[in-house]
Amino acid sequence: MSFLVSPALENIGSHEHLKLGVMASGNGSNFEAIAQAIADNRLNAEVKMVIYNNPQAKVQSRAQSWKVPSLLLDHRNYPSRESLDQSIVEVFRENQVDWIIMAGWMRIVTEVLLSGYTNRVINVHPSLLPSFKGLHAVDQALAARVKITGCSVHLASLEVDSGPILMQAAVPILNDDTLETLHARIQQQEHRILPAAIALASRLI
Ligand code: GAR
Repeated sequence: MSFLVSPALENIGSHEHLKLGVMASGNGSNFEAIAQAIADNRLNAEVKMVIYNNPQAKVQSRAQSWKVPSLLLDHRNYPSRESLDQSIVEVFRENQVDWIIMAGWMRIVTEVLLSGYTNRVINVHPSLLPSFKGLHAVDQALAARVKITGCSVHLASLEVDSGPILMQAAVPILNDDTLETLHARIQQQEHRILPAAIALASRLI
């Protein structure tokens, strides 16, 4: 069982064709959900570029199979968070990106990124914000023994996992849930609401 806080918004269309830049650190299932939504005409957009920061990130092969250009910007090669963010902004601008989607980006971002794309940076997080910000959000929910958790898509602001909420989905925690089973059900909801929230943001902002 799960529900969208705003179910009527799930199939919202977007006026303009969106040019997205995706940032991801690992698996990339949320990137794939965006790509699938575009292929299904649920989201009027294209992914111009995927930036990833870990050489082993599975998102790279997912991008390749969707024929989306990808670029490794390894944070270990940058002297500061700001210098990495500056490169990200430059690469996305060179590739005509209008909206940045942090789809499993596990780095703190700075004012350099946020001011480069004011009100156009979207983040997905596996909790019902403002609960359980930061790393290990699913673990945090299990440890707190809450009965309902979920996921949030929001406009990013300087404070980690903060900013105006675009959409949320609730996911009950079952008695026999493990980190893996709960995260899997949360991710199913992320994959539903992330494309819808991107379309919604493009209508609102
Ligand atoms: C997602 O569950 C996303 O919410 C989380 O990382 C996962 C990435 O999965 N993001 C954060 O925790 C950010 N604070 P994916 O690589 O399969 O899309």
